Amino acid sequence: MAKKRLHIKTYGCQMNVYDSARMADVLAPLGYEATETPEDADLVILNTCHIREKAAEKVYSEVGRLRLLKEEKARAGGRMLVAVGGCVAQAQGAEMMRRAPSIDLVFGPQAYQDLPDLLGRATRELMETGRSRVVAIDLAVDEKFDRLPEEAAPQGYSAFLTIQEGCDKFCSFCVVPYTRGAEFSRPVADVLAEARRMVRQGTVEISLLGQNVNAYHGDDGNGGVAGLGELIRRLADIDGLERIRYTTSHPRDVDDDLIAAHRDVPRIMPFLHLPVQSGSDRILRAMNRRHTAARYHEIVGKLRDARPDIALSSDFIVGYPGETDADFQATMDLVRQVGFAMAYSFKYSPRPGTPAADLDEQVPEDVKSARLAVLQDELLRQQEAFNAASVGRIMPVLLERDGRHPGQLVGRSPYMQAVSVDAGSVPGDLKGTIRNVEIAAVLSNSLRGRLAEPVSMVAAQ
Ligand code: 5AD
Ligand code: SF4
Repeated sequence: MAKKRLHIKTYGCQMNVYDSARMADVLAPLGYEATETPEDADLVILNTCHIREKAAEKVYSEVGRLRLLKEEKARAGGRMLVAVGGCVAQAQGAEMMRRAPSIDLVFGPQAYQDLPDLLGRATRELMETGRSRVVAIDLAVDEKFDRLPEEAAPQGYSAFLTIQEGCDKFCSFCVVPYTRGAEFSRPVADVLAEARRMVRQGTVEISLLGQNVNAYHGDDGNGGVAGLGELIRRLADIDGLERIRYTTSHPRDVDDDLIAAHRDVPRIMPFLHLPVQSGSDRILRAMNRRHTAARYHEIVGKLRDARPDIALSSDFIVGYPGETDADFQATMDLVRQVGFAMAYSFKYSPRPGTPAADLDEQVPEDVKSARLAVLQDELLRQQEAFNAASVGRIMPVLLERDGRHPGQLVGRSPYMQAVSVDAGSVPGDLKGTIRNVEIAAVLSNSLRGRLAEPVSMVAAQ
C-alpha cells in the first residue's frame, strides 16, 4: 500500500487529543503515517475547539495558510486534502464549507470513525467536479466507539481514554451540549478492554475523559449500570495500571460512591479538577449549574476527609451577564476558602446559540479584564504556594522522558506538576517507572528533584 502522510493539528481539550489519536488509528489501515508538519502532508486535519470566542477565526486563518500549501502542491502535480473536524466543524460546518472552498471535508466529533469513507467521497468529488463539499455532522454517538478499530498505536506511559461523551447539563454559557450532543457512556467491558490494551502497550497512567466524566453510567454487563466509582474500582484491578485520573467532573455528579473510591483506591491520584465557575449562588443559578457555593464546600470537605492529601484545581468564569462586584467578591471568597493547586480562569465569552449570549446585562470588557486580573493574581499566588510547599517532600514521580541534560529525566508528580529529576548515572532505563523523588526546588514551570532511593536499589529492580 502506498504510504501517505497525515498531519493532525489539535486544538482545545484532552478529549480532542484522544480523538486525534483515534483518527490516526482509523486512518492507519489506509497507509497514513503521522507527520509533524503540514508541508509534507497528503492529508491535514484540523481538530477544532469551539468553547470560547475566536475559535472559528483561528480555524479560517489556519485554512488560509494551508490553502497556499495546497496550491503549491497542486502546481507540483501532487494533492493535499484539508479536513476540518471537531466542535467548530460541528457548529458551523456547512457555513465553513461555503466560505472556504479549500476545505475538502468537514466532520463532527461523532463522525470520525467514518473517515475512510468520507475521504473516499471527498476524493471522488474532487476528481469528478474539481471541488469536494463533504459535510458529516451527525451527532448520534452510540455507534462511534463500536466502529473504531481495535488496533491502536501505543499512547505512551500516560494516556487518555474517553469513557463518556456529550453533556446534558446545559450550563447557560456553554456550547458543549450543542457540539458534542447528548450524554453517552461506554459500556464497562469496552473501557476495561481498552485500558488493558493500553497497559499491554506500556501505559502506566490513564486519564479517563468525558465532558462530564462523573455523570458516567455505563452498562455493567449484568443488566445494571455502573457509576464512575465502580468503573474505577474495576480498572484498579488491572495489573500494571498504576495511576488513574479522571476529568472533567461536575460538582453535581460527585456522589458518595465516588468519594469512597478516593478513600479506597490508592491508585486514584490525589488531584481533582472540579470546576466551580463562580462563588456566587445568584450567578451559579443563572448559569444553571444546579449547585451552590455551600454544596461545593461540602463536596470538597468530604473529598478531603476521604483523601487528606487531595489537591484541587478548577475553572472560573468572570463577567457572566449580570455579575456584580459583590458576586465577584463571592468568587474571590470561595477561592480563598478552598485553596487551589492550580486553576483556569476565563472572561465570559458569549457563544452563539447559548442562552446566556442573548442576555441584556453583558458585563463591559474592561470590567471583565479587571476582575480576571484580580482572580488570576490570587490563583497564581495559591499555585506558587502549593508548589513551594512541595520542596523537601518526597513524591512518587512517573518518569516519562529524557530531560534536557544528560542523566536527567522528566515526569509528573501525583499533582500533575512537571518534575525534572537528576537520576545521575543510574544504570538501566527508568522511563515508564514511578520513583520516589525528593523535591529540591521550584523552577518557573516545573519542580526539580533527585531520586530518593539508593541507586543500588533502583538498579536491582
Ligand atoms: N465563556 C468563557 N468560558 C467558558 N467556558 C465554557 N464556556 C465558556 C464561555 N462561554 C469555560 C468553563 C469551562 C471551561 C472548559 O471553559 O470554565 O469549565
Ligand atoms: Fe458545558 Fe456545563 Fe456540560 Fe461542562 S457541565 S460541558 S460547562 S454544559
